Amino acid sequence: MKYMGSKRTMLAGGLGEIIGRNLNKNGRFVDLFTGSGSVACFVSENFETRVVATDLQTYATALAGAVIERDCGLDFDSWGPSWIAAAIYAAEKAAIGVQAAAVQNRLKIERIHAQAEKARALSAMCDSDFVRAYGGWYFSPWQALLLNALRQSIEPGSDWEKVALAAVIQTASRCVASPGHTAQPFKANTNAAPFLLESWLKDIIAHVTVCASNLCGRHAKVKGVAYTGDANEVAAKLNEWDVAFIDPPYSSVHYSRFYHVLESLARGVVGEVSGAGRYPSPESRPSSLYSIPTRAEDAFSNLLKGIEYSGATAIITFPASESSNRLSGQKIKKLASAKFNVVEDRFLSRFSTLGGDQKHRKARQDIEEMIITLRTR
Ligand SMILES: C[S@@+](CC[C@H](N)C(=O)[O-])C[C@H]1O[C@@H](n2cnc3c(N)ncnc32)[C@H](O)[C@@H]1O
Repeated sequence: MKYMGSKRTMLAGGLGEIIGRNLNKNGRFVDLFTGSGSVACFVSENFETRVVATDLQTYATALAGAVIERDCGLDFDSWGPSWIAAAIYAAEKAAIGVQAAAVQNRLKIERIHAQAEKARALSAMCDSDFVRAYGGWYFSPWQALLLNALRQSIEPGSDWEKVALAAVIQTASRCVASPGHTAQPFKANTNAAPFLLESWLKDIIAHVTVCASNLCGRHAKVKGVAYTGDANEVAAKLNEWDVAFIDPPYSSVHYSRFYHVLESLARGVVGEVSGAGRYPSPESRPSSLYSIPTRAEDAFSNLLKGIEYSGATAIITFPASESSNRLSGQKIKKLASAKFNVVEDRFLSRFSTLGGDQKHRKARQDIEEMIITLRTR
């Protein structure tokens, strides 16, 4: 899935090798800011190492947990088709089910503006808070009904619960009518109308089938664990055999603003949303010191103190030059040099500027990322 700051490409470009070199057979690999879970999953699927994945956001640990918490595959056929059939039935039976399916069948670029208005009005009448919040905006009413029904039909405590939840989150991320993140949906009355239509026509059932069956085949070599928590608190529980992976936010805008739709699915509740971005209120979204420019450096220094105290090895990735939260790879290296032995590598990365702005910067830029390995002296 698309994720701001994902390290998926860096893993193949040297980061994977650096991690592999540093793992210790007696210790764990602890991905403190797991995000899309790409690094945690890579390590757990390729090395005989117990992986711990944590993040402030529930959807992030749901994604990682679906892979790293199992040490064998899961048989999709024994639960997937009946789960999906139950969800389709629930969507059809919803009070707006038939009308939502009718709107879905008639979506056309020539009429998309009027259809989007109708889609919002129809979704607003639904008794599901997920459909009311996002139907007619990030998803068509029928897509929103299906996503909600898939989420609600997951059997708590079943052995497939976590795979199903991660599959719903991945499906939402693949189909959402926005440029990868959910800060703003595409608008029907702008040049983005064709993208809105393309997204609304995506087949939720086909996507969830592919995501769930793919996740079933993936698993850790050694069972790990994923949970929601603050990186600085998790770092206090490390030991000298552990390797901590540190990939904090670069942006002064909180991740929770960009991924609230995924978070709502992971939590299973939405709450009140407002505005064109359909965000829940700031108080109900996780906020990070790393995205507050005046506090990010202190947060990072405290994290380094925790690592130093534990004696763990740390691998940090960060853009070399200053980011909008006022941290930079250079600054981090300087902060660490007083207490750690530091090894530096560099990687040229394609980086999302969160949509950019057409006058001043492109939506994607090449930036140099530093990979900084720290060992206590
Ligand atoms: C750059 S992304 C990580 C990307 C990840 N390595 C990947 O490959 O997808 C940063 C992540 O840090 C999380 N985060 C922000 N502040 C945090 C904190 N104080 N503790 C734990 N996670 C935090 C965000 O929710 C976000 O998922």
